[in-house]
Amino acid sequence: MQLPQSVTMREVGTRDGIQSLGAFVPTEHKIEMANLLAGAGLKRIEVTSFVSPKAVPQMADAGELMAALERRPDVSWEPLVPNLIGARKALDARSDRLVVVLAASDTFNLKNIRMTVEDSLRNVSEIVPLARAAGVPVSAGIATSFGCPYEGDVPAERVGQIVDRLIELGCDEVSLADTTGMANPLQVERTVGGLRERRPDVQFGLHFHNTRGMGLANVMAGLNVGVTVYDASIGGIGGCPFAPRATGNVATEDVVHMLEEMGIQTGIDLDALIGCAQRMSEILGHELPGQVMKAGPRAVRHAA
Ligand code: COA
Ligand code: ZN
Repeated sequence: MQLPQSVTMREVGTRDGIQSLGAFVPTEHKIEMANLLAGAGLKRIEVTSFVSPKAVPQMADAGELMAALERRPDVSWEPLVPNLIGARKALDARSDRLVVVLAASDTFNLKNIRMTVEDSLRNVSEIVPLARAAGVPVSAGIATSFGCPYEGDVPAERVGQIVDRLIELGCDEVSLADTTGMANPLQVERTVGGLRERRPDVQFGLHFHNTRGMGLANVMAGLNVGVTVYDASIGGIGGCPFAPRATGNVATEDVVHMLEEMGIQTGIDLDALIGCAQRMSEILGHELPGQVMKAGPRAVRHAA
């Protein structure tokens, strides 16, 4: 195996993690959690999304949340945007980077953001120049890159074509998302390895959901083909409201624990991160799927 020496974690807990919860999480709690995560050493935080409050009521406070965040030179606050309206609002809110979302499959894109993939690409072509004028870089996230809950398999060639278009349009990073946990490690190795070989110039990220227990194994497969940017959500919370039976992302503290145990640096304070997961559990009022937050790090010794 050829593993990287360091990895950048992107926290999505206050966005992906919270977006589909029924009970509104008070804005002050979202702000507290975002600042705690930054304090634990997370440098990139997808803190919220500028989407229709009718579609996702939980994210209705995006502007208020962004306005209250601690601005630090070492932290990039990077909200998700689905369209030009969202991009304008996100730029007004002083985002450090935008993450434009689209899917690899039309059925999912239509369910999620009510447009075809082609229309999404047209949106990207309008968003990038706007962001550029404001000096803000744009990443793209491709949902259903490893399978669609409605259409099934998504050919790697299709994902490759969308990657090409996004780069052509001026995105400087493409994150491949496994929205409903359909990827397996061999598929990740083949698909992502193939894409990286074809486009060595592209900065790829990976976004795994642990819906079928393959999340950490998929991270491992991504590492083995050289990907160094991973999304994760504190405590393993989350899921897309427009994907049937979706569940949480890989838990940030579980990924960080695995990486650090393997000697891969993340720059994150694991104990502080576990503290974030425990606080998130208190805020949400229930147990979270993360495992290291319950078992503690491997290095902990118990009294005999
Ligand atoms: N933020 C806030 N409001 C928005 C918006 C945005 N990004 N985009 C559109 N709107 C508003 C419009 O102003 C309009 O408001 P009005 O009814 O008061 O006139 C209304 O929403 C409908 O606009 P329209 O462009 O027709 O949107 P739509 O109904 O076709 O929905 C999306 C498209 C993209 C806005 C919506 O599907 C959405 O927000 N999806 C996000 C889903 C999501 O977050 N999924 C999980 C993350 S991947
Ligand atoms: Zn997700």
